[in-house]
Amino acid sequence: MIKEKEYKKRRDHFAQKLQKNSVAVLCAAPQRVRSNDTEYPYRQDSNFYYLTGFKEDNAALVFVKKTTECKVYLFVQKKEPTLELWTGKRLGSKEAKKRFLVDNVYIISKLNPKTKEFLEGAKNLYYDFKAQNEKIEQLKTLSKNILEFKNAASIVEKMRLIKSSSEIALIKKALKITKEAHHKAMWASKQLSFEYELQAEIEYIFKKNGAYSDAYTSIVASGDNANTLHYVDNNKPLKSGELILIDAGCEYDYYSSDITRTIPVSGKFTKEQKELYQMVLDVEKKIISMIQPNILRSKLQSEAEKLLCKGMVKLGILQGDVKKLLKEKAHKKYFPHGIGHYMGLDVHDQNPYKDKKDKEISLKAGMILTIEPGIYLPQDDKKIPKKYRGIGIRIEDDILVTKDGYKNLSIDIKKEIKDIEVYSSL
Ligand code: GLY
Ligand code: MN
Ligand code: MN
Repeated sequence: MIKEKEYKKRRDHFAQKLQKNSVAVLCAAPQRVRSNDTEYPYRQDSNFYYLTGFKEDNAALVFVKKTTECKVYLFVQKKEPTLELWTGKRLGSKEAKKRFLVDNVYIISKLNPKTKEFLEGAKNLYYDFKAQNEKIEQLKTLSKNILEFKNAASIVEKMRLIKSSSEIALIKKALKITKEAHHKAMWASKQLSFEYELQAEIEYIFKKNGAYSDAYTSIVASGDNANTLHYVDNNKPLKSGELILIDAGCEYDYYSSDITRTIPVSGKFTKEQKELYQMVLDVEKKIISMIQPNILRSKLQSEAEKLLCKGMVKLGILQGDVKKLLKEKAHKKYFPHGIGHYMGLDVHDQNPYKDKKDKEISLKAGMILTIEPGIYLPQDDKKIPKKYRGIGIRIEDDILVTKDGYKNLSIDIKKEIKDIEVYSSL
């Protein structure tokens, strides 16, 4: 639970970053129609949520900065008993005034007239360029004197880079649930017949523990399916002797976890699977151990590529000189993705990777990122030694950068071969 005082502090920081003579408008995510009168499950816009902690749709946050002082207004949906009968209770403006430390709260139908007033004499209008929102499109038509439209998201997303202790606590909670789910999967796989059954076991644990559910669509990919990076069909039979790549993490109170484990269906790795798995695991551990303030993510990427390429040569998957293979990017065929990404309110947290001068941002204490090396060896690739074909392995953990180095927040989720085999046999 994050307190209103922390949200207020974030809004104050955001306000400081606005130029004078500016209005900034951040909107709640709109409801999205699935079909006819049925909507997709609602989830608040992450930038709006970061500044408010408010989970209702049909709301907006407005900053009005004339000189150095900045006023902040929240617009919320009016309480209407007939609507509430169908879609649930709303906070309403009276309660919102008590809860939020803002200058005033209005009902959302006042957004256009009020903002028109605020825009008198304003030179800049900040809004989230990525958020496709009808409300913003309307406001842009009201802003006749505006000289410049600016992206509010780039301010918020930079703030979101460094996680507070209350954010870290929520990510830890998400990981605690995700740990239980992956451990359950290690134990359950041998008794199940289809990938979706394993997915159900995992997501049951998410829901049972009060998580919103998944932070992204779970990947439960057995055998050769693991070589499709975004495999989400999860509908093939589980076969003894194959591995299953499970990339699944829950979202708890808006905060993500993102974990991949690759486990044997039967509970025992074969010799070839062990060889590949251990190689990826050693790379993962080595890259994690390099994490510390000021290191560049691109350094972690290049080191992971180098180590994986070396490993592939050692196992006979690639042939030739490692340096030359790296230069030709031969290894990319079997490790085509990034070594990791920021994680927070979003699984791929919307934080900048480069600064204003297009220079890469180095890691800083308080950032959270995933480390997720992998190797993907398709069944139909005749260049790969036959014994390794049809195997895909990824191992992914969530790492907090600390002032002295790092803390692996998911260290308790088993990943050593012997531990996975023990958990599978329980
Ligand atoms: N689960 C998505 C990813 O690992 O990036
Ligand atoms: Mn990831
Ligand atoms: Mn993942």
